[in-house]
Order: sequence, then structure tokens, then C-alpha cells
Amino acid sequence: MISFSSEQKFIVTGASSGIGREVALLLNELGASVIALGRNGARLNGLKQKAKHPENMFLEQKDLAEDIDGLPVYVKSLKEKYGKFSGMAYCAGITGIYPLQVLDFEKIKRVFDINYFAPILMTKGLIDRRNNIGTGCSCVYVSSIDAKTCTRGQSVYSGTKAGLCASVKAIAKEVSSQGIRMNCVLPSMIKTPMTLDEFSQLTGMTEDMQKNIYPFGWGEPKDVADMIVFLLSDAAKFISGQNYIIDSGEVL
Ligand SMILES: NC(=O)c1ccc[n+]([C@@H]2O[C@H](COP(=O)([O-])OP(=O)(O)OC[C@H]3O[C@@H](n4cnc5c(N)ncnc54)[C@H](OP(=O)(O)O)[C@@H]3O)[C@@H](O)[C@H]2O)c1
Repeated sequence: MISFSSEQKFIVTGASSGIGREVALLLNELGASVIALGRNGARLNGLKQKAKHPENMFLEQKDLAEDIDGLPVYVKSLKEKYGKFSGMAYCAGITGIYPLQVLDFEKIKRVFDINYFAPILMTKGLIDRRNNIGTGCSCVYVSSIDAKTCTRGQSVYSGTKAGLCASVKAIAKEVSSQGIRMNCVLPSMIKTPMTLDEFSQLTGMTEDMQKNIYPFGWGEPKDVADMIVFLLSDAAKFISGQNYIIDSGEVL
């Protein structure tokens, strides 16, 4: 049985919605302290109301794409407020369905900012020895099955997620001597506002229409959160630099 102490503090980005929200609630339920980051203040407040241990759920409203170069200093400021971190679940992200004909640099940059540049620079802040606990520290990044597969119109999104997987592997090697672990998870279709609002509206696809691709249907946020929390915990202390596909039995 996985459990944490309130002395173990985890940054969770994207905590206001979907997968990140589920990770924040589960970590909190299992005893950890959570520094929950998101842009939407109302949804963050809702997260705290839902938390099993609200006294260990700390809310930080932050647009991670606003000053990406400043993110290492931002992590330091969080350390000064809350203490050294036991890790991070980087769950913030956006999608973007852009066929090449409509693509321009501004659109590419918007998706890379939050899906690739921000997690790398948050990590730069977190791996600073002054900001983490050293051995036992673990980071998990939500990449996507689109890092491995090809979907029409998803060239940029796929690029951000494949880039993240590759970079996290390399960084895992850099930080192993500090006792820090890092891994990626690569989900396929999960029922969150991202898919239900954006993907379904743009493509007209429903869960039923995709039963031939996803034998177990679309996933719930908890299906991904369980894996992330395992990888953050000491139960995974032998695992680093890996990419875990969570794909409803699509079997690539
Ligand atoms: N859902 C899926 O099927 C699926 C599949 C594979 C991978 N993923 C990946 O899983 C991650 C989470 O997606 P989700 O499905 O949970 O989506 P979601 O429900 O739309 O949540 C996205 C989260 O990212 C945050 N966010 C977006 N832009 C941000 C910014 N500039 N600064 C700070 N926070 C920002 C949002 O914050 P606010 O709400 O506060 O704006 C929200 O908390 C993403 O990286 C996505 O690519 C999702």
C-alpha cells in the first residue's frame, strides 16, 4: 500500500483540471502535501474543497507560459515558501489540432511553451540541490501516446510530447547521481475537459466510435493518476528514465 507523509511535498501542475486534478487529490489522500498549480482560481478552490486533507493542499495560481525563463526562480520561491520538494507531477498541457496548411510559428510556440519548454525549466528549478530532498525525489511528466503514434493534424502536439519523452530520459541520466528519478507516462484517450471539450468537438469522435481502437474504452483520469502516484512513490525507487504507455490495450 502506497502512502506518503505530509513532510513529502509535491508540485502538481495542471492541478485545476483533468489528470493533474486527480493526481493532486490522490497524493493528498495518501498523506502527501501538494502544491497545486493552475491558472483557474475557481477550479483550484474547488480542488481544495474536494481534498481529503485540505490543510495539506496548497494552491498557487500561475500561468506557466508567461515567463518561462523565470521558472527556475519561481520554483526557488516555492521552496522558500513550502520547503524542499520530494518531486513533481507535470500534468499541465494543451492540445492543438493544426494541419500543416494552417500552421505558423506562433501556433507552434504556443503548444511548445506549455508542453515542452515549461516542464524543462520547471525541472531545472527542481533539480537544484537547494530545492529538493535529494534521494527519494521523483518527477513524472504527462507525455502522450501521440509521442509514439501519428494522428493527422497533431504534428506539433506529437513533437512536444516526443521531445519531452526524449529530454526526460536524458535528464534522468544527469540527475541519477543525486538520487533523483524521473519518468514519463504516455496516455491515450482519457475523459477530461481536453478531450471531451476540444477533441470531440473538433473531430466529432465519440468513445463509442473509437471502440475498435480502444478495447477498454476511453480512460478515466484515475487510470493515469494511479500510475503517476506509483512512480512518485518509493515503491518505484528502482525505476527511472522510462516511458510508460497507458493505452486501453491499443497495443502499439
Ligand atoms: N486527456 C487525454 O486524453 C490525454 C491523453 C494524453 C495526454 N494528455 C496530456 O495530459 C495532460 C493533462 O491533460 P488533461 O487531459 O488533464 O487536460 P485538461 O483537463 O484540459 O487540463 C489541462 C491543465 O493544464 C493547465 N494549463 C494549461 N495551460 C497552462 C498554462 N499556460 N499555465 C498553467 N497551467 C496550464 C490547465 O490549467 P487551467 O485549467 O487552470 O487553465 C489545466 O489544469 C496534458 O499534458 C495532455 O497533453 C491528455
